[in-house]
Amino acid sequence: IEMVLTDKPLLGEHVLVTAGPTRERIDPVRYLTNDSTGTMGYALAQMAWRMGAQVTLISGPVDKPPLMGVERIFVTSAAEMYNAVMSHLPMSTIVIKAAAVADYRPEFESDKKLKKQDDALLHLTLAQNPDILKAIKERRNAACFVVGFAAETHNPDYYARKKLEEKGLDLLVLNDVLEPGAGFGTTTNRVSLYYPDGSVQQLPLAPKLDVARDILLAIAEQKKGKVI
Ligand code: CTP
Ligand code: CA
Repeated sequence: IEMVLTDKPLLGEHVLVTAGPTRERIDPVRYLTNDSTGTMGYALAQMAWRMGAQVTLISGPVDKPPLMGVERIFVTSAAEMYNAVMSHLPMSTIVIKAAAVADYRPEFESDKKLKKQDDALLHLTLAQNPDILKAIKERRNAACFVVGFAAETHNPDYYARKKLEEKGLDLLVLNDVLEPGAGFGTTTNRVSLYYPDGSVQQLPLAPKLDVARDILLAIAEQKKGKVI
């Protein structure tokens, strides 16, 4: 991407980004996951560094090279992501939760491969994973700016507003995953930004690095005006 950043709008910020899917083990050869490839989260981490921030990227299992200037921590499950996020929260001034966290995990992980006649595989029982964003809401200091993502296939506006409110976010980035050129595994994205005052800003369809820059500029702008 050809881009000149004349100033560094995120200088002095400590940005924590989560990216990619999580993987929830069933047994040594099987797991539950989702279609996230981590591209949007990685673009945000890279761009945040270019904008002057110190960046920590907590990444689920994805096949991506390391990013220039970015400290990367790999995690596998939602529980591991939860722990990594919580341990970095005190140092962070901006948290961006682009990861697609698995909502459920198998209730029991088997250390032996389950056999097909096993009832455990036919009737997989699930347990709910902790909601990392909701936990952040309770544990963060007031100066920390928290950004959530919502990937929706229907009623996007309704769910975006609901998540912004329920998770106590400073900004919500809505991804309509069924829209052409947007969502999982694409090189471009088209998102809308939802603000706590009820306003919505639709960003144009663009390469994910450009979308990342627009999101980060919006965060920098919004954070300046945040009353704490
Ligand atoms: N999220 C999280 N921890 C979870 C689930 C989601 O931190 N266990 C975060 C995601 O990283 C994202 C935001 O919450 O920033 C919204 O995720 P999403 O899956 O869209 O929302 P859910 O609350 O899980 O609701 P649902 O899957 O039912 O739409
Ligand atoms: Ca979810």
